[in-house]
Amino acid sequence: MSPTNKAGKTKFQLDLRRHLREHYVNENLTHLICEIAEASKYIIHSISTGDLGVAGTSNLYGEQQLALDVLADRILRKRLDHSRVVANMMSEEMDEIIPVSPDCDGKYSVAFDPLDGSSLVDVNLAVGTIVSIFEGCDLLQPGRKQVAAVYVLYGPRTTLVYSVGKGVHEFGMNMLREYTLLQENITLEPQGNLYSPGGQRNLYTPGVEAYVNKLEERGVKLRYSGGFVPDINQILLKGQGIFFYPHLKNQPQGKLRLLFELSPMAFLIEQAGGAASDGHRPILDLQPEQIHERSPVFIGCKKDVALAEEFIRKLEDDKSKTG
Ligand code: AHG
Ligand code: MN
Ligand code: MN
Repeated sequence: MSPTNKAGKTKFQLDLRRHLREHYVNENLTHLICEIAEASKYIIHSISTGDLGVAGTSNLYGEQQLALDVLADRILRKRLDHSRVVANMMSEEMDEIIPVSPDCDGKYSVAFDPLDGSSLVDVNLAVGTIVSIFEGCDLLQPGRKQVAAVYVLYGPRTTLVYSVGKGVHEFGMNMLREYTLLQENITLEPQGNLYSPGGQRNLYTPGVEAYVNKLEERGVKLRYSGGFVPDINQILLKGQGIFFYPHLKNQPQGKLRLLFELSPMAFLIEQAGGAASDGHRPILDLQPEQIHERSPVFIGCKKDVALAEEFIRKLEDDKSKTG
């Protein structure tokens, strides 16, 4: 029999809004996270019925936008715009920060990837929405200043994972399209036995190459879907593993975006007792200089992240010092 909460409801019928209230999350932040959950219901609909083609536009990275990217962006932007608790917002699909309200008191600034992995929808693989939330008006802050991070995973089941700095909790969407609690306080082991290697192997630098060889010597299994959200979700729910999209010979900053992909996921993984690094320092300590900044990332079990940093230090940093 699952434990019951004060209202006598079994813990696992606990919906998202009640869970937030039970964790004394303030009213505006509760409303904001619930609005993100609401928006996900329309994004699901657009994924299952929407046009899989290109939008005929490209984002600031020059990446071709899919109709679904633009649609998901519009759905989330509209929700946040009308939420009355957002000061500024910024997405992977926008060129600059969108001001929503001039006053910052009691409001939040939100950075989001409306549909991460969108190019996987046409081969029916799992995709997700990633949201990073700061208090006040400033989005260009280190990720450690976030007050919340949320992702929604559109997979065989639709799930939502959030943290407000009091543990990581997972919700599932039921038949009535409500999010009900699946599990609380998700935690990672110190070391794992799965790895999720992004980027092309032939472009790996010596430290990363040696790191992967070490993992494979240990018999660590390769699990890579090409979607950041399902790949991170797998590590969280299995309680172990490491994902990396490293600096590459031709892309020293890697591929993933700091503000709306790496900071929120690093917040969640650290809350689960894991670590997230750019290969030298915690992702959450990086001070973004501009909104669309990218960073290399090694994220997951603490020991696996530390091992990556050690290989990079020994085979790249020290090497470059001694020449
Ligand atoms: P997005 O679809 O938002 O541009 O992000 C895709 C990202 C991320 O989901 C994934 O980890 C990475 O791209 C995969 O990149 P590769 O296809 O180069 O492996
Ligand atoms: Mn993305
Ligand atoms: Mn995206």
